Amino acid sequence: MAVQISPSILTADFAHLADVAAQVDGAADWLHVDVMDNHFVPNLTIGLPVVASLAKATGLPLDCHLMIEDPDRWAPDYAGAGAGSVTIHAEAARAPVRTLREIRAAGARAGLALNPATPVRPYEDLLGEIDMLLLMTVEPGFGGQRFLDIVLPKVRAAREMIARHGGEVWLQVDGGVSADTIERCAEAGADVFVAGNAVYGSADPARAVQDLRALATR
Ligand code: DX5
Ligand code: ZN
Repeated sequence: MAVQISPSILTADFAHLADVAAQVDGAADWLHVDVMDNHFVPNLTIGLPVVASLAKATGLPLDCHLMIEDPDRWAPDYAGAGAGSVTIHAEAARAPVRTLREIRAAGARAGLALNPATPVRPYEDLLGEIDMLLLMTVEPGFGGQRFLDIVLPKVRAAREMIARHGGEVWLQVDGGVSADTIERCAEAGADVFVAGNAVYGSADPARAVQDLRALATR
C-alpha cells in the first residue's frame, strides 16, 4: 500500500476550517478530523454539523476519528454527513461489529482505534470488519504530545496480523508523528500517517506533508 498522509486539523484555526483544508489540498490524501466529547477524552472539539459543513467545503476526503463515549449512536451519522472514513475506539464501542457494519453500509470506510495501552491481539477476529486499524501513539485528547515509542512493537505485531489476513487493512498511526518519528512508524509497518503539529505548526503545511511522505516512503 502506498503511503498516505492525513493532516489533523486539531491545532489549526477552527474559525477558518475551509482555508485550513485548502492549505493541504493537493498534497494530503485525507483531512483528519478529531471529534472529542469531553467524556472519552478530557477535551471538546467539534461534532456532526461542523463535519457536515466541512465535507461540503473541501474536496479532501474526511478521516473522522471519533473520541467519544457513544460511538455506536453517532458513527453512522458521520458517514452519512459525508466523511470518507469513520474510526471508532474499541475502548468505547459497546457493539463494535454492528457499528463497523453500519459505517460501511452508510458508504464510508470503517476504522477501529486502539489506545496505547490496549492490546491488538484481541481484535484480530475483527480484521474482516474494518478498512483501517488506528494505533494511537499518544494518549488521545490533545495535539502536540510526545510520540510514545512503546507502541512500535504493537505496530509491528499489527502489520504481521494484517499480512496474515491478506493485507487489505490500512494501518494508521496518530499522535506525535513528525519528521523525527515517521520513519520509525513506517519501518514498523504503518502506512497511513496522521500529523497535526508537524503539518499545521509549519509555515508551509503542504510542503510539510510532502516532506513527511518522502520520509515515510524511503
Ligand atoms: C490526539 C488526536 C490526534 C492529534 C495529533 O488525540 O487524535 O489526531 O491531533 O496531533 P499531533 O500530530 O500534533 O500529535
Ligand atoms: Zn486523531
